[in-house]
Amino acid sequence: MSWKTFPKIELHLHLEGAADPAFIRGLAQEKSVDIGGIFDEEGAYKYSGFGEFLQVYEAATQALQSPEDFQRLTQSVLENLAEHNVVYAETFVSPDFCGGRDLGAWREYLHAMQEAHVEGVTLKGIVTCIRHFGPDKARETALCAAETAGDWVVGFGMGGAEDAGKAGDFAYAFDMAREAGLRLTSHAGEWGGAQSVWDTINDLRIERIGHGVHAIEDPKLVDYLAETGLVLEVNPGSNIALGVYPSLEQHPIAKLRDAGVKVTVSTDDPPFFHTDMTQEFEQLERVFGWGVDDFHALNATALDAAFCDADTKEALAKTLE
Ligand code: HPA
Ligand code: ZN
Repeated sequence: MSWKTFPKIELHLHLEGAADPAFIRGLAQEKSVDIGGIFDEEGAYKYSGFGEFLQVYEAATQALQSPEDFQRLTQSVLENLAEHNVVYAETFVSPDFCGGRDLGAWREYLHAMQEAHVEGVTLKGIVTCIRHFGPDKARETALCAAETAGDWVVGFGMGGAEDAGKAGDFAYAFDMAREAGLRLTSHAGEWGGAQSVWDTINDLRIERIGHGVHAIEDPKLVDYLAETGLVLEVNPGSNIALGVYPSLEQHPIAKLRDAGVKVTVSTDDPPFFHTDMTQEFEQLERVFGWGVDDFHALNATALDAAFCDADTKEALAKTLE
């Protein structure tokens, strides 16, 4: 069946990474910004492997220059979510890509993002530091997050190259965000092994892990995740597009779930990976035979793990029935 109209929740979606290449190309032309040769002949993002992906991603963000650009981007993201009946999403947004780390400017960008609106979709933000920009910048980003924590900014996270520095180098930034009342997630175990997930859990005391799929290599870690209920934000289409796993057949999402680990499903950076939530569901049905009950259970896990307040969750629960 087509899963397009089935209600969905998405917890791992990079705002800048959700920018359509045509939109980025248009902005770059409008503003005469040289973002380099990041598109192929068909106009899609062009990269090979994770290192190049990050370079192209960062180049694309250079076309996003004003609060209005971020408002238009957020509006288009909301429209795409609505098309796939994603009723609730949390999006990673990096102040580093919003006109520098000036707190005044960050508030303006944030305000612009919140102006975007599509009926039937609730969007919340997770302010995100970039690991390979280093711990000092991460602290500044955490300050941006702490200063704007509230109804829209519900979490703090970390993306970027997992092998840049040690997880513990970022503990201060995560402590600041925690003290400001923000909920915490960090990328780990996408490229790094199980130890990178352990380090992230122990040093950053997060409650969700972005990806975390390499946890499958350590049975003790799998047991620990199952016992503690730490949630994995799994992005199967992303993992296959970037070559973390050669195919969904070899992807550990079903094994993790069957071992009792709380897994959720997201798209990460949909136009980069030529995916959307409907396709993710379709592929999970095709390869693992997941059906209505499985996807309802997936929604329940995601709703429980969402960083929004209890009232929002209660209202959402009704739309997921
Ligand atoms: N991993 C790390 N950083 C990222 C990703 C990802 O999948 N997407 C955007 N930034
Ligand atoms: Zn990600």
